[in-house]
Amino acid sequence: MARRLEGEPVSLWVATAGGTDYPPLVGEVEVDVAVIGGGIAGLTTALALKRTGRTVAVLEAARVGTGVTGHTTGKVTALHRLVYTELRASHNENTARVYAAANQSAVGHVAQVVADEGIDCDLRRVANYTYAESKDAVTAVRAEAELAARLGLPAEFTTDVPLPFAVRGAVRCADQAQLHAVRYLQGLAHAVHGDGSAVYEETVADKPHDGTPCVVAAGRGTVRCRAVVVATNLPYGGQGLFETRCHPHRSYLVAGRVDGPPLDGTFISADEPMRSILSAVVDGATWLLAGGEGHRVSRGGDAAERYGHLAAFAHDRLGVPTIGHRWSTQDGIPLDGLPYVGLMSPTAHHVYVITGLRKWGLTNGTAAALIVTDAVNGRDNPWAKVFNSNRITPVASAARFVTENVRTAVATLGSRFRGHAGTGAPAPGEGAVTEVDGEKVAVYTDEEGRRHALSAVCTHLGCTVEFNAADTTWDCPCHGSRFGTDGHVLQGPATRSLPARE
Ligand SMILES: Cc1cc2nc3c(=O)[nH]c(=O)nc-3n(C[C@H](O)[C@H](O)[C@H](O)COP(=O)(O)OP(=O)(O)OC[C@H]3O[C@@H](n4cnc5c(N)ncnc54)[C@H](O)[C@@H]3O)c2cc1C
Ligand code: FES
Repeated sequence: MARRLEGEPVSLWVATAGGTDYPPLVGEVEVDVAVIGGGIAGLTTALALKRTGRTVAVLEAARVGTGVTGHTTGKVTALHRLVYTELRASHNENTARVYAAANQSAVGHVAQVVADEGIDCDLRRVANYTYAESKDAVTAVRAEAELAARLGLPAEFTTDVPLPFAVRGAVRCADQAQLHAVRYLQGLAHAVHGDGSAVYEETVADKPHDGTPCVVAAGRGTVRCRAVVVATNLPYGGQGLFETRCHPHRSYLVAGRVDGPPLDGTFISADEPMRSILSAVVDGATWLLAGGEGHRVSRGGDAAERYGHLAAFAHDRLGVPTIGHRWSTQDGIPLDGLPYVGLMSPTAHHVYVITGLRKWGLTNGTAAALIVTDAVNGRDNPWAKVFNSNRITPVASAARFVTENVRTAVATLGSRFRGHAGTGAPAPGEGAVTEVDGEKVAVYTDEEGRRHALSAVCTHLGCTVEFNAADTTWDCPCHGSRFGTDGHVLQGPATRSLPARE
């Protein structure tokens, strides 16, 4: 019997946003730019392009805001834990300075768009903190505060940290923000749609043809355009071979209602296990979110246990009485710590990519959108070189390239040989991979005892999916595709459903 977990398995943001209802693409349309993906990266790009006079078509496989962005924590900040210390060590101080400038500008851009478009997304300007509980961590946050300030951020070390438990100190980065991510995306989509531009939902795009014009076949239609932006979190169909440079990393969140006002700031721990904290007022109720338990997708272990750790943290340290929501999602971690933004490959002409947002895509994705907008318009951008998707990565990341790809290869091989759970049916709420006539079949038994059988072969590159009982999903350990129990794609790089089986 599946273990009962606290909370509805749906993100607070998706649960409270209401829906969108843009039509699917049917027939042929002609625009300046096709943007594939209705997340923060795609929609920010689409609106920025529209504001420069371009017509755009946004192609979204599901609904706006239901991807990674709909499952984020919601911090809009240039302080990404201890990122500046990391970037200075793995690159140099100038690279860290450009990263800081791009992300701090992104915070301002988001706030400006919310004001200009009148988007009702609970935007709050708050300080963001990286806090330390141990002696070692306090040394690290002191160094990060000093460096971040030198790089031009409004950062300082402080011992005055507005958390409900004592800490030794923190980096405080002033004038950052938080928002309701799905409401923000819905506001962006609303601003994009109209005047020759359009948003199409339930429209899965095929690999674009890079030419003059570019052509994107999608759903029951086709887009002809001068440029294409692939903003699907991880590119699909092997485009740019980003699977080898960008590895999906999953994290978990729980959220519960509390009395009183929200905390005056957003927070992340410098110590391990990493904990991320945000509180928000949604429709008059105060919610506290606790996140963490991150891991490479191929090394998940017991997801229920991970939710249990976060729930314990929320109860014991944050005083959350009951967990109302729990969810997990994943984002691409680039080998050298910098997002990949620019042309899809060294030989691409008009097809651009945004990926590797390293779990900080609300700002990295926004900055990336501004870089791509400049590139499409033939303008220079001061951050483009550092984020260049076709950069030669430093020696340090060459070793990681080998390690990460060996791990993927091991996950691939492991997944091909795993998965014979015998012939018995799984218990209600459980799933298992079994073999029927030589074929691997993914069988899920729902709470009413009905069995649902699918091919267990991931439609991306053929690994065997695994059942995730805590999220009720079929997850691929190789590059992170996730499927619902009816087989539909929840997260790529797969674009095709798992076919049903008898
Ligand atoms: C647990 C967790 C917490 C996080 N918290 C924060 C935070 O507090 N602050 C922060 O800055 N970042 C955070 N991040 C990272 C941030 O949420 C992501 O970087 C960002 O949301 C990614 O946006 P995206 O546009 O790349 O992807 P998505 O939001 O996933 O958008 C991509 C879209 O493309 C669509 N798509 C895919 N394939 C196709 C296709 N073939 N055709 C058409 N459409 C397609 C998908 O349906 C999807 O809607 C967090 C990440 C995780 C994992
Ligand atoms: S084989 Fe790549 S995600 Fe499944």
